[in-house]
Amino acid sequence: MSWWQNGVIYQVYPRSFFDSDNDGMGDLSGVTVKLPYLKKLGIDAIWLSPFYPSPLHDGGYDVANPRDVAEELGGLKSFDSLSRNAKELDIKLIVDLVPNHFSKDHPWFRSALTSKPNSPERALFHFQDGKGSKGEHPPNNWISLFGGPAWTQVIESDGNPGQWYLHIFDSSQPDLNWTNQKVRNDFIETIRFWLARGVSGFRVDVAVGLIKDMSYQDDPQPQLRVDAMRLDLYDPEHPEKSEEIRKWANNSPLFDRDEVHKVYQEWQEIFDQQTSEVFAVAEAWAYPIDRAMAYAKSLGQVFNFDFMIVPFKARTLADTITNLIRAANDYSTYPTWVLSNHDVSRVVTRLGGGDTGLAKARAMAVLTHFLPGSIYVYQGEELGLPDANIPPNLRLDPIWEKSGHTQIGRDGFRAPMPWDNRKPNRGFSNAEKTWLPSPDDWQVLDVPTQENDPSSTLWLYRNLIKSRKTKTLWQVPLALTKASPEGELLAVWRSDCGLCLVNTGEKNVSYDLPFPMELVISSSDIGIEVTKSAVVVPVNTALILSKL
Ligand code: NOJ
Ligand code: MG
Repeated sequence: MSWWQNGVIYQVYPRSFFDSDNDGMGDLSGVTVKLPYLKKLGIDAIWLSPFYPSPLHDGGYDVANPRDVAEELGGLKSFDSLSRNAKELDIKLIVDLVPNHFSKDHPWFRSALTSKPNSPERALFHFQDGKGSKGEHPPNNWISLFGGPAWTQVIESDGNPGQWYLHIFDSSQPDLNWTNQKVRNDFIETIRFWLARGVSGFRVDVAVGLIKDMSYQDDPQPQLRVDAMRLDLYDPEHPEKSEEIRKWANNSPLFDRDEVHKVYQEWQEIFDQQTSEVFAVAEAWAYPIDRAMAYAKSLGQVFNFDFMIVPFKARTLADTITNLIRAANDYSTYPTWVLSNHDVSRVVTRLGGGDTGLAKARAMAVLTHFLPGSIYVYQGEELGLPDANIPPNLRLDPIWEKSGHTQIGRDGFRAPMPWDNRKPNRGFSNAEKTWLPSPDDWQVLDVPTQENDPSSTLWLYRNLIKSRKTKTLWQVPLALTKASPEGELLAVWRSDCGLCLVNTGEKNVSYDLPFPMELVISSSDIGIEVTKSAVVVPVNTALILSKL
């Protein structure tokens, strides 16, 4: 088994992690400074969200040069220093590859704008003539995932409105044309560039998006194509309705087209040529689950996002786990468990916020660490952070504007880390103003407060990660997943040696033990009673037991 198939990978959103030069924005030296913190947490690898030069119209996922580091994040020398220091601590690095689109500031797009229709420069993107007698209407009815049309019209060099270009995200993110060999070669160069700088893998942004239907026909259901990709529209109370929408995600004109796997097979060949192990993890909104697993087959791994939407209900959790593990087995791979990332509400908030949300989030952390496969931890998840409330005038996410202020966007999931509440900006930066504000309401969640409290979420994560490495029970296969008859207690067995129990109901539940067991870890130690023959699991609590 490769390290990444059961590793713990920590996602750093660099601009919000730690600001080492006090310019108000987190930077790569800031990650280097905090390496000892991450080492103590026990993670295997860091996935760095984009740090490339970017005009920041989409939090850095609008890349102006994929083979460089933004000046304000410290430039390439900062990356090299981070890479060296991480290596010394045996922490691996994974970088974000954004192949679906470039930023409008990328030199290729700039020259495409000043070039003529049908020129080789425009052929690197999707430029089309508009409809209508003067081409004044978009080429078709496709819409952007951020809202509004997926096409923007350009002004040609004669000063008149001209062709339109495709962007499935913001208009500042022109989609690349992956049938163009120059595009393919350029990404291969980018992959080799980062491999030479010591990275162990890549996170592939919008892995489902690269190949488009280039007949550019109108889509009978443009809105459903977009809705099918939106996690926030998933209704866990009515999964059948959501499945009905999700079927529009596969082989659509814009997403999850079978030919995309050819691109990844080429990349995989490069990974295979390396002397050390290299993998990629795909961000693939593909349904049903087997279509998502196909990306793991092509690239190594795929994010399984089900735990970012699953309700805190034993039965649904049991179904989700069974289904994911079944699919992973079918594809001879391992699942990944993800509770949050920079695009979705933090798990504490999603599960209701406050003390209850935190208790449930901690229980989910215990459960995920018990399961086979790898785990992605989003920065601040180990502190039990809830979403931050970012005032409307400080919101930066294009979703806020593009949706006509109907969706607040993702800024609240990206607020700076609370390193130390006694310092300005909670210890993130000494700058007067930071790029996103530190929230007012993270009183007891900073690192020193949690360091001093063995019952804190930080300690829980450290202990969970450590126990995965030291307890042999994690090496045996998952044997059985089931919910109790009342449907409120989830019981997951690993072979016959380890058991994870999660009480999602409203009363304490007693569970009979087939043989004496001992408590390994729990999300809270209040109210747990273990005897030779039974264990009492308190409400909103998860615990792991192993055979004595
Ligand atoms: C997925 C990224 O996670 C998200 O933050 C970004 O907006 C889109 N891809 C576009 O790159
Ligand atoms: Mg800085």
